[in-house]
Amino acid sequence: MNILERYAAMDYGPAPESRSEADAWLKAHDFSKALFIGGKWQAAASGKTFSVFEPASGKPLAEVSEAGSEDVDAAVKAAQKALPAWKKTSGYERARILYAIGRAMQRHARLFAVLESIDNGKPIRESRDIDVPLAVRHFIHHAGWAQTLEKAYPGYEAAGVAGQIIPWNFPLLMLAWKIAPALAAGCTVVLKPAEFTPLTSLLFAEICARAGVPKGVVNIVQGGGETGAAIVEHPGIDKIAFTGSSEVGKIIRRATAGSGKKLSLELGGKSAFMVFEDADLDSAVEGLVDGIWFNQGQVCCAGSRLLVQESVAETLIAKVKARMGHLRLGDPLDKNTDIGPLIAPVQLERVKGMVAEGARQGAECWQPASDLPHTGYFHLPTLATSVAPANVLAQEEVFGPVLAAMTFRTQEEGVALANNTRYGLAASIWTENVNRALHVAPQLKAGVVWINGTNMFDASSGFGGYRESGFGREGGHEGLYEYLKKPSGKTAYKPIPMPEPDKEVGSASFIDRTPKLFIGGKQVRPDGNYAIPVTDQKGRIHGEVGAGNRKDIRDAVSAARASKWGQATAYNRAQVLYFLAENLSVRAGEFAARLESLTGTRAKAAQAEVDLSIERIFAAASLADKFEGRVHQPPARVVTLALNEPVGVLGIVAPDEAPLLALVTLIAPALAMGNAVVAVPSQRYPLIATDLYQVIETSDLPAGGVNIVTGASAELTDVLAKHDDVDGLWCVGDSDLCALAERESAGNLKRVWTNSGLALDWSGDGELLEDFLRRAIEIKNVWVPYGD
Ligand code: NAI
Ligand code: MG
Repeated sequence: MNILERYAAMDYGPAPESRSEADAWLKAHDFSKALFIGGKWQAAASGKTFSVFEPASGKPLAEVSEAGSEDVDAAVKAAQKALPAWKKTSGYERARILYAIGRAMQRHARLFAVLESIDNGKPIRESRDIDVPLAVRHFIHHAGWAQTLEKAYPGYEAAGVAGQIIPWNFPLLMLAWKIAPALAAGCTVVLKPAEFTPLTSLLFAEICARAGVPKGVVNIVQGGGETGAAIVEHPGIDKIAFTGSSEVGKIIRRATAGSGKKLSLELGGKSAFMVFEDADLDSAVEGLVDGIWFNQGQVCCAGSRLLVQESVAETLIAKVKARMGHLRLGDPLDKNTDIGPLIAPVQLERVKGMVAEGARQGAECWQPASDLPHTGYFHLPTLATSVAPANVLAQEEVFGPVLAAMTFRTQEEGVALANNTRYGLAASIWTENVNRALHVAPQLKAGVVWINGTNMFDASSGFGGYRESGFGREGGHEGLYEYLKKPSGKTAYKPIPMPEPDKEVGSASFIDRTPKLFIGGKQVRPDGNYAIPVTDQKGRIHGEVGAGNRKDIRDAVSAARASKWGQATAYNRAQVLYFLAENLSVRAGEFAARLESLTGTRAKAAQAEVDLSIERIFAAASLADKFEGRVHQPPARVVTLALNEPVGVLGIVAPDEAPLLALVTLIAPALAMGNAVVAVPSQRYPLIATDLYQVIETSDLPAGGVNIVTGASAELTDVLAKHDDVDGLWCVGDSDLCALAERESAGNLKRVWTNSGLALDWSGDGELLEDFLRRAIEIKNVWVPYGD
């Protein structure tokens, strides 16, 4: 045998990582007392346990206590008890503890990695080189946030007790993403790992005790969906952070509606992996291996849709198939293994079922002729071609090693195809042309965009989705907000009832007209052709407004969607807003008189409200080109551009209090950030809004930028909340209206902000404006690598 023959015949021998330490750890533990509550290990009150299996062998690993609602209640109480002292602990002290956790994890890094691979089935190369180091990095990074919190987030305080529910695909990493920012912010937590993968969370709890985390600050309960639901529904929880399926995300959205709980959701995805003809195809193939076969494809941001430009499709697909043939399936503890088993039989069945359905719908599903290991829940890497855009494999998250390939001709077509999904978590762009990459990235509806790369993560850079991939960000500066709040008042918001028209007093003769709705830059008659009389305090009719209905909202949403406003430059947006303020200022006297006569407020107060409204539009204009993103420098040859992008089409339901000022305070920052608005003005004082659109008409705002639909707030809010083409909804109203907005928004998981039924001080200082600017954007993190 000559050297070439030997080289050709050479195969990998196994290179197993030792599991003896992990086995000893498993043996030494009594998992029937696996609930970590108030710093103590406890059995479930019911005595119930559930079984945990090793995905590579199917053998049982542990019988773990299953928390019921009584146990969850005990954990929440422990977290509540620990909260005041933890909130008061100095940022520096909290930083020291977070750092100590990170260091302790580093010392036990190998045990964590091996346990994770045994419990989850992921290759040791991944748990050792990715999961564990990133988890450590998260704690150490957030130690810094703890210390600098007061300076970086003035006026904010800890949100309270955080209920955190995580999935099984990255058990330790998701735990770190949840616990590190919560502790940094001064929250205490009740965390529930997934029922398939409890082990590393138990080792983590042991470390907490040793790192000096005070009792009750971190509580970890074990169990499945019922345990999770008990956390979501517990009234003692102030914030819910969830990572998992979109299905459960929607359940949680509905369950928390109206509860005042803060909510962040990291859900599924169907992320595009776009390969342009000018890409380095060999790099793209390697990227693809990471993009879809990392963690067996059980990754929320997996690049599961390969979109390749037609001219290179054949070449790329051939290369992908050749590479797939070299992917090694096997023992997760073998350092040569590329693909481990799926998490459980149920997941294997699910993936097989979806592949079969995809094939039935016309996709050609190809697998390499590799052998499957004899035990474990393995699935071969699978490539689906001839996938129609509506195919289940193109639309639904498979959460397995299955890649759906499609082609596009032009860049425009590629972008349209990439955005043809209800998800919006991540995307990869492969091209050697930097201009193209930076041009395409902003056009993709995804929270994370990797250029010539994939699945890059870092604690400094926020992670999270657009659309049905959920809302809120984890990591980075933006991630901290999820665990912070501003102290709020306790006074309930009350709508102001409209006095019945009083025949005796007649109408206020000086104004007698029926303003229309304002849609697509035009005054239009309401679809239903009904009008609502608007009276003053004495019951005098001042005019009538259109009673908008479902059809009117739909028209307004279409007009907003078609509006060119989102493409205006920041400078241009500033100019339009300045012009709007100027035009309002010309008519200030008229508006003050209107406010005075309608609301019965005193002349001086009315004048002050108009003045402040003008000032606020000016302030929004001034920040339109200054409320900008950031640049992060993760520990790799890459910069992350955190871009502030508009949410899109924003529904705004304004209150009766301060009818002009509140409306302007909501609309101006929304416009400043490039959103198109469908506004439902105060039900009591709609004439203020119809006056305002006359000012808008003269201010060079492109058609559809602002649309105003008058009518019954509850009815119109319901339509806005349910509308699938509305990206975000701000609703100010009583607690019933806020609950309705949150509950009915679950369909497309639009991001909703409400006043939680509380009265707001609209005359508050500039901070108010910044809060709304922040709510008016989505942060997209674009990863741009450099170097060869
Ligand atoms: P899941 O969403 O049911 O589970 C995630 C977590 O939520 C687990 O801790 C679970 O115990 C908990 N949970 C389940 N029902 C709950 C409820 N009603 N209230 C509160 N918590 C609840 O996901 P599952 O069943 O493990 O996987 C099903 C599919 O979901 C997967 O095939 C995959 O497509 C998707 N998935 C997506 C994830 C992602 O990160 N995008 C993570 C896990 C699953
Ligand atoms: Mg489930």
